[in-house]
Amino acid sequence: MSTKKSQPTARPRERAFMVGVEIRQEPSLISMEDSLSELARLADTAGLEIVGETSQKLDTPNPNTYVGSGKVEEVVALVEETLTDVVLFDNELSPRHLRELEEKLGLHVRVVDRTALILDIFAQHAHTSEGILQVALAQYEYRLPRLTRAWTHLARQGGGGGGRAGSVGGVGLRGPGETQLEVDRREIRKRIKFLKDELEKVRAHRQRYRAQRKRSRIPLISLVGYTNAGKSTLLNYLTKSGVLVADQLFATLDPTTRKIILPGGHESLLTDTVGFIQKLPTQLVAAFQATLEEIAEADLLIHVVDITHPNALEQAKAVDQTLKDIKAEHIPMIVALNKIDNLPYPEAAQEALKYFPQAVAISALKGTGIPELLRMVEGELYENYVKISVQIPYSEGQLISLFHEQGHIEQIEHNRKGEFIKGQIPGRLLARYAAYQASAPPAEDITFVEE
Ligand code: GTP
Repeated sequence: MSTKKSQPTARPRERAFMVGVEIRQEPSLISMEDSLSELARLADTAGLEIVGETSQKLDTPNPNTYVGSGKVEEVVALVEETLTDVVLFDNELSPRHLRELEEKLGLHVRVVDRTALILDIFAQHAHTSEGILQVALAQYEYRLPRLTRAWTHLARQGGGGGGRAGSVGGVGLRGPGETQLEVDRREIRKRIKFLKDELEKVRAHRQRYRAQRKRSRIPLISLVGYTNAGKSTLLNYLTKSGVLVADQLFATLDPTTRKIILPGGHESLLTDTVGFIQKLPTQLVAAFQATLEEIAEADLLIHVVDITHPNALEQAKAVDQTLKDIKAEHIPMIVALNKIDNLPYPEAAQEALKYFPQAVAISALKGTGIPELLRMVEGELYENYVKISVQIPYSEGQLISLFHEQGHIEQIEHNRKGEFIKGQIPGRLLARYAAYQASAPPAEDITFVEE
């Protein structure tokens, strides 16, 4: 007798309905339509199925329900018609908006905004202990002021693919006169404190690692770029390392560092970083500050741009803006216009190069343009020397020896305050000497001069 085994069935995808709002007083980098397509991709990455969308243009958001009351009624009807489980707002909703909308839409429908969706994806994709802690912290900080339906609601939010950060754990005992909601809030605050302490420890470890790297003096190159631009593919091509590459948003969350040897034989470290996106949730920018700071420590940035994307220019601008926000705009940058193998006609790459200074057209997938990219990297790291005169105190012995090792010295004067050095250093080191620039040594202090 044979028994038939039932095939495992895939979990049905939750059905999501999107709501886009263009606020005239808050101009956005990309159009509402494009922003909604991006939201649809985010939803897909999070495992949701889009069943419909609607949009509205407003001068300012409605203080209660974000969209106007007529629109709310329309959404309620459409949600019923399309059997929607989740209503997805493309904008960040305040706790009040969320509360009011949930009331209008009823208990069986969840209201999720762009921020919560991105946090959810981040929770699914975090792998290192620091990444997991950062996302969990960002999720709790986002939820604390928005806690409206006590534990059941919170647990449901966490269960919807929210990953580890979603499952908050056991509920604390209720104190005298405390409502369940208050207990939940207290529990979340406790969790936030715990996560902050843990993150502190991880960061201390990272600091030590950073200091070690600085001593090793191998230059660090950071790959930056809009999500899905092809950073991991480029890192893989350059290092053949097999880092996760996926046609999903935010496949790479935790920075990955690999060593590469440049054509001239120099070593350098290459890191992949988290993908940037417009309207990146504020909680995330704060939570990932440490990771982003890593970018600010780089000697060179390679900005990967998906040149086949219709919003390539806007995406590049969003990345430039984030780089400014984290004070990394002074770092030398090479722009790699990627995916040229996918351009409808080859001249389009030449056309696009006009918009970017210091750019090279590549295909990270096929390897096209990579030798030229590496030549530019090497030039930027090792050949672009700049003239400089500095007066460095002896307490900064590391900087003095760095000049000796990597610079070309024309003149040295030892004096009581330190060393005056005139010569040339690779451009990437300029920032490190900025505080010590001097046109001449303090004359009376000169003890001896080397030429
Ligand atoms: P995040 O992790 O979201 O930051 O993405 P990423 O920038 O690391 O992008 P990733 O390397 O994961 O690539 C995204 C998608 O683009 C994948 O499907 C890649 O195969 C594809 N891709 C990357 N480079 C190229 C290329 O040169 N040509 C083509 N045709 N596709 C590419």
